[in-house]
Amino acid sequence: MVEKLPTQPYKGSRDFYPPEMRERGWMFSVLEKTVESFGYEKIDAPVIEPIDIYLAKTSEEIVSRQIYSFEDRGGRKVCIRPEMTPTVSRMVSAKIRELPRPIRWYSLPNLWRYEKPGKGRLREHWQLNADLFGASDEFMADVEILQLAMDILIAFKADPGTFNLFLNHRNLLNDVFEKLLKIPREKWPSAARILDKKEKISKDEYEKMLNEAGLTNDQTKIINEYIDNGLNFLKENKSKLSSEYTEYLFKLISFLTDLGYGDYVRYNPSVIRGFDYYTGMVFEIFDEHPENRRSLYGGGRYDNLISAFSKESLNAVGFGMGDVTLYEFLSTHKLIPGILPKTQIYVASFLEEECKKEAFVISAKLRKEGYLVETSLGQTKLGKQFQEADTKKIPIVIIQGLEEKKENKITVKDMKSGEQNIIDEKEILNYLEKYFN
Ligand code: HAM
Repeated sequence: MVEKLPTQPYKGSRDFYPPEMRERGWMFSVLEKTVESFGYEKIDAPVIEPIDIYLAKTSEEIVSRQIYSFEDRGGRKVCIRPEMTPTVSRMVSAKIRELPRPIRWYSLPNLWRYEKPGKGRLREHWQLNADLFGASDEFMADVEILQLAMDILIAFKADPGTFNLFLNHRNLLNDVFEKLLKIPREKWPSAARILDKKEKISKDEYEKMLNEAGLTNDQTKIINEYIDNGLNFLKENKSKLSSEYTEYLFKLISFLTDLGYGDYVRYNPSVIRGFDYYTGMVFEIFDEHPENRRSLYGGGRYDNLISAFSKESLNAVGFGMGDVTLYEFLSTHKLIPGILPKTQIYVASFLEEECKKEAFVISAKLRKEGYLVETSLGQTKLGKQFQEADTKKIPIVIIQGLEEKKENKITVKDMKSGEQNIIDEKEILNYLEKYFN
């Protein structure tokens, strides 16, 4: 016997059947509506990019272990995009002189990373990216991005207490590296990456990595205190650290508190973000549900990425939010509504040829009026056609028999109430308008 081909999708990726596609469409429409309400405009770009754009500043873990890279037929080293930030920066750089500033862009790309699939982690995900370039006041730009990041979950009707926004500053961490740990600048990015992994790996593994990176036991002790003791650590080391970055963070928290986000925003030193391009404020939004306590999405300020593409530099801040973690959050908090198919009308038909043709004529007329109409293909008895409309949750069924046609009458059934009426043909549009509006 010939072996059948597998029907499941590639590991770590998903097929979207109509019910899943409806949920995805709903999620994306809430995302788009929210970012557009802040004046962000949508962009897109190719799925394949030259690998070089990730080599400099994307996280080391992505580049060395997760990227889907290959050589094209012309010998170019390319990859499927694992994130959008280098692409967005490339696009801004290409038109840096002509784009009116500030630049507010968003995108919803599908991204690929060779991950070990698990809860909230897949190999393909869709990611909302919102990025703000070239603001004359960087503090206000940070405020806006953080506000937008929170407004998204609020737009999905998340209640206070269901999530928190944890804030940190890359320069505060660098300050700790420099002044307290006294490790050389070139080691900062690798040390930051190890700290970023702390929650995801075992204590032994974490300590081994720090040790391999050249940190002594004393240095490891200090860095652990920095992460575990939060504000107390900052207070204890106040005289040794620059106050600039903590003051910046507390100014952000106080500004956002005045805007009504005080319930959500907290300083949290364990937020590192594993990408080398972050240069300032960094943040992650965490689900606070006991069954799903995890990072949902995050971002930060990345002022130097544009200069990798352009002679000019431009300040930038943004975040990325994945559909997988968002879905986990929404389902854990029971925030996903039942989303019905969009089709509004089912035009049924009797078995006579003439009736079948008439069903097509009626359907075409209704479509011209803007309705979403499915036409019965007429092979089955009427009862079955009603059943089909019911299974598909189509709210209105219309049918016209030959006798009715002669008398300019038409039958309309409201599938929710079960009410069936024979009405004048010319009344049908009024009936539908009343029903749907
Ligand atoms: P990231 O933290 O790598 O940042 O990804 C952002 C979000 O995308 C994650 O918090 C998560 O929601 C989702 N995500 C990432 N990888 C996966 C995966 N394998 N499976 C499911 N969801 C995933 C970035 O990508 C930055 N480029 C974000 C950014 C934009 N920073 C500034 N602008």
